[in-house]
Amino acid sequence: MIFLLGASGYVGNAFQRELARRNLAFQSISRSTLDYSDFNLLRAALKEQRPKLVIHAAGFTGKPNVDACESQRKETILGNVVLAQTIAQACEVTDTQLGCVSSGCIYNGAKFKSADGTWKVEIDLNLPDLQKKLISRSTDVQGFIESDPANFTFAQDNCSFYSGTKDVAEKMLLHFPKAYVWRLRIPFDEHDFSRNYLSKIQRYPKVYQNWNSISHLGDFASACLDTWLLGLEGGPYNVVNSGYCSTREVAELIRKNLRPDWEPIFWRNDQEFYQVAKAIRSNCLLDNSKLIQGGVKMRPLEEALAEVFKRWRPAA
Ligand SMILES: NC(=O)c1ccc[n+]([C@@H]2O[C@H](COP(=O)([O-])OP(=O)(O)OC[C@H]3O[C@@H](n4cnc5c(N)ncnc54)[C@H](OP(=O)(O)O)[C@@H]3O)[C@@H](O)[C@H]2O)c1
Repeated sequence: MIFLLGASGYVGNAFQRELARRNLAFQSISRSTLDYSDFNLLRAALKEQRPKLVIHAAGFTGKPNVDACESQRKETILGNVVLAQTIAQACEVTDTQLGCVSSGCIYNGAKFKSADGTWKVEIDLNLPDLQKKLISRSTDVQGFIESDPANFTFAQDNCSFYSGTKDVAEKMLLHFPKAYVWRLRIPFDEHDFSRNYLSKIQRYPKVYQNWNSISHLGDFASACLDTWLLGLEGGPYNVVNSGYCSTREVAELIRKNLRPDWEPIFWRNDQEFYQVAKAIRSNCLLDNSKLIQGGVKMRPLEEALAEVFKRWRPAA
């Protein structure tokens, strides 16, 4: 049996669907039924019920968006750092396998090959010089791998408060090397919903152009379970679909497949965008080879997007 913590949330729901689809026995756990932020309560439940895996899909992401974490700092630390530590310690003392949902937002930018053959991190992926390489999917562009140090953190003092806490949580989890750290990035699927990237793009009055690796939510939940079922080693995994996209490319796909009459309006530049947005956004490419080499299947991004557009279910 599997314990699913934070089952009531957006990501927790995706795990529920995937666990049910695979006929894996699980218990959906909410703080209202078992306060898993309380070490003693969680430890007692783990001792009594002996789940084979604890999926930690809870956390504080900010509502309506990550900007809220800039003002709700205490909640952000409690929900992302203290909670992860409490759960990790309860799993450690009861010898229970843990998998934590983390985020790719601890990175910013991507790696580009220079003329002299060395690789350099570029932070601003909207720089005109980089567009040709990004659009052509040049082999001179690479995403961050798990062993690359996070570069959007409190230590660099360049991050949003939310990203900073996700990085602190990941650094804390290094003390629990058996735990899986599953990095999700900009989730999307066919269910039209305020948290879905494809819905967000359509609902923003103005759209922010950038380049990112992104995760099909169902593929994400499935791949996370596979890391455990295949007995892969603990540690971080970039759980993103293979490849990357720009907001403009995705908006164009939405126009072509769903809304031919839609004409998205884009922010002119960062200066204009950050007059409204509070938190600095991470935009990054992530490499998922560690996952693929471990035997986990992750679809190419174009394939996942094509299927989502075929199955798109508009909100009622
Ligand atoms: N959504 C994204 O775009 C995204 C992207 C990358 C990573 N993530 C990560 O995925 C995890 C889940 O995110 P989500 O989008 O599913 O969030 P969500 O929809 O807000 O759900 C989070 C769940 O966590 C539980 N929770 C426990 N402690 C909490 C606290 N202090 N404040 C608020 N909720 C708390 C709540 O469930 P109960 O109270 O019922 O237990 C809540 O339903 C987080 O770690 C987040 O950082 C999310």
